[in-house]
Amino acid sequence: MKNIDSKGHVTGKSIYVDDIPTIKGTLYGVVFDSPIAHGCIESIDYTKALDLHGVIKIITHEDIPGENQIGGIIPDEELFASTDVYFAGQPIALIIAESDQIAFEARKLVDINISEKEVIVDSREAQKKDQLIFPPRTFSLGDTESAWKKCAHVFKGQAHSNGQEHLYIETQGAYAVPLENGHIRISSSTQGPTAVQRTAAKVLNVGMHKIEVDVVRIGGGFGGKEDQATPWAIMAALGTQILNQPVKVILSRLDDMRMTGKRHPYSSDYKVGFSDDLKIMAYETTFFQNAGAAADLSPAVMERTLFHGTNSYFIPNVKMTAYSCKTNLPPNTAFRGFGGPQGMFVIESALAHAAKELSVSTHQLQKINLLKNGDKFPYGQIADGVELTKIWSEMESKFDIEAVQNRIHEFNSTNADVKKGFSLMPVTFGISFTKKPMNQARALVHIYTDGSVGVSTGAVEMGQGVNTKMIQIASQIFSLDPKRVKLESTNTTRVANTSPSAASSTADLNGKALQQACNVLLERLKNCAADHFGISSQDIDIKSGIVYSKGVATDLNWDKLVLMTFLKRICLTENGHYATPRINFDMKKEKGNPFAYHVFGLALTEVTLDCIRGTYNFDAVRIVHDFGNTMNPSVDFGQIEGGLVQGIGWMTMEEIFYNQDGQLMSNSLSTYKIPDIYSVPKEVVIEPLKTKGNEMAILKSKAVGEPPLMYGIGAYFSLENAVRAFNPNFSSTFDAPFTHEKILMGLFGAGRPESHDSNNVLWSSDRMVGATI
Ligand code: MOS
Repeated sequence: MKNIDSKGHVTGKSIYVDDIPTIKGTLYGVVFDSPIAHGCIESIDYTKALDLHGVIKIITHEDIPGENQIGGIIPDEELFASTDVYFAGQPIALIIAESDQIAFEARKLVDINISEKEVIVDSREAQKKDQLIFPPRTFSLGDTESAWKKCAHVFKGQAHSNGQEHLYIETQGAYAVPLENGHIRISSSTQGPTAVQRTAAKVLNVGMHKIEVDVVRIGGGFGGKEDQATPWAIMAALGTQILNQPVKVILSRLDDMRMTGKRHPYSSDYKVGFSDDLKIMAYETTFFQNAGAAADLSPAVMERTLFHGTNSYFIPNVKMTAYSCKTNLPPNTAFRGFGGPQGMFVIESALAHAAKELSVSTHQLQKINLLKNGDKFPYGQIADGVELTKIWSEMESKFDIEAVQNRIHEFNSTNADVKKGFSLMPVTFGISFTKKPMNQARALVHIYTDGSVGVSTGAVEMGQGVNTKMIQIASQIFSLDPKRVKLESTNTTRVANTSPSAASSTADLNGKALQQACNVLLERLKNCAADHFGISSQDIDIKSGIVYSKGVATDLNWDKLVLMTFLKRICLTENGHYATPRINFDMKKEKGNPFAYHVFGLALTEVTLDCIRGTYNFDAVRIVHDFGNTMNPSVDFGQIEGGLVQGIGWMTMEEIFYNQDGQLMSNSLSTYKIPDIYSVPKEVVIEPLKTKGNEMAILKSKAVGEPPLMYGIGAYFSLENAVRAFNPNFSSTFDAPFTHEKILMGLFGAGRPESHDSNNVLWSSDRMVGATI
């Protein structure tokens, strides 16, 4: 089934928050934020701003009727700064005016005086000063101390991965509308409608029942709207509560980039040890997560770094410690992969390091150490349903890794200034929220008397195609034309107490709740038909709108049966509930069975590097992916292609840059480069692995949202190999993103080959200057 939104998206008819027709009297809010990264607010003078014609009100912490607190996991973040500011871009006030232009003008007229305090932007520096968001955590297995002594080879190093701007096409925003009796409806571009409702109720000092949050769809989230859609929605609601008028708050792109957190940068130490036959015997790592100025989702993100710290490998002795470091940056937050990619980058760096020292290919080390059924993860879960060996041999037989290697070797020995590189990137990603209570969902299904169907779930459509999957589920169970199923907006009054659409789990959790509701309704209809024919309901089937009795078509159809059931006063509405069984995790022991299942895959990335310019093209990315049994190949392939390119962007070109004062220098699309159509690999081949599928996945179709992002890590290592083919003395920095500048330094930096005799012009100083700009 085609994505139901495809036509609306390409014709521009799809509705986002800013497309909702505004009600008369709507006001517009612009956020006044801290110009500096750390300090004490000495004075603020709003007089001139308030005097501007069309400015209605400026809301500050003093106007908040409830708690000035939006921290989800740890209450450490004010909605509006009261006395101190902790990052540049921190909201201080909301300026409400008749138009957003007026509000923007007024913002320039605010006089603020802040006495500056020391700014920390680096995670390791924060850790040294004991600036932690919460105490460190350690996952361990076996005994690394004694294992080191038995290792034949031990390597130590550091790896760094930078942040990543979400750059959802629709910026953060919300529109709040007053209803009767102090009730407020918020249309929010959020992945977590309940998070908005709950936090708004706390700040506005009203019951959750007074706040309705509605989401038609959002224009991309990628984790950036799991928690960080909340403040703007509350600000709009506060404006509505105070003024009893509709208030819209939509961040401009520059405001969004400056005020919101991003993927967490990590700096990490690793130590890896091998036996003589190249089995990984021990692995130790210390992760320094740059959390920013408040916890936000950092504790959960850090936990997932630990969960995925050994990626797809079995290692008998492991010790991984992680620090969540408090810095004066906007609070960093969820981003596709949720800390997992950062952990995986470190072990892949360690393996690349070891391979170079041992003069073997990285993929040999990877293959030898692949996780198998029965192996234990460092967090105690016993691996089952592991497809890695099968995936690897599928890759070998379909795409012939040795032939690729030989072809590249041949190419590199005959080309002086252009080199090719390749890498393999296995991925193992756990599916479930690691916080157990979040693994539940509900769905509400109405069958209308004409036989058409309305479905509400807690799932938020953010471009990932979950609404299409929900329609598929209902139409499949009812054997009904998908056109007769409507997916309602995600609304807290229809489906309450929802988990955010996140953790790749949205289709599984909501889909299973929906399945449950549909099956109950189907049973009721079958019972009614059985009564009508005087037979048992087991003998009734409903296929393509026709009712079958003992396998024979009757003259009763779906529409007539629905009406008949209604006339018998039988309920045609059902609420389904699903809670993932068998999962648990004990944070005291750091052991348990946190994941319903794992998704596995392998990417083979091939790159051609122009060694004069430092520019490159990815020739092909070939992926063997474990979908289980994909319920919608076009949606799922789209998720893989998008995730891959987003991962490549993180690893190669997206360079978040804060200066020492905590100011974001990469603050717009002119200074922050994301992948465009030219960065897409020339060829992306996705080979679905044939498996039995997994019962814990919806219709045995495994979660697909986050895992493919990590295929992009292969881009980093394929580029490294191409650089090394040109400059054998290149020494890895494992410092992502591997930008053009870093590539040129790698090609021509210290240790470049003296004897390189290709076009001498390459080495002339003007070429060098030209090349490094
Ligand atoms: Mo997603 S990074 O779990 O919002």
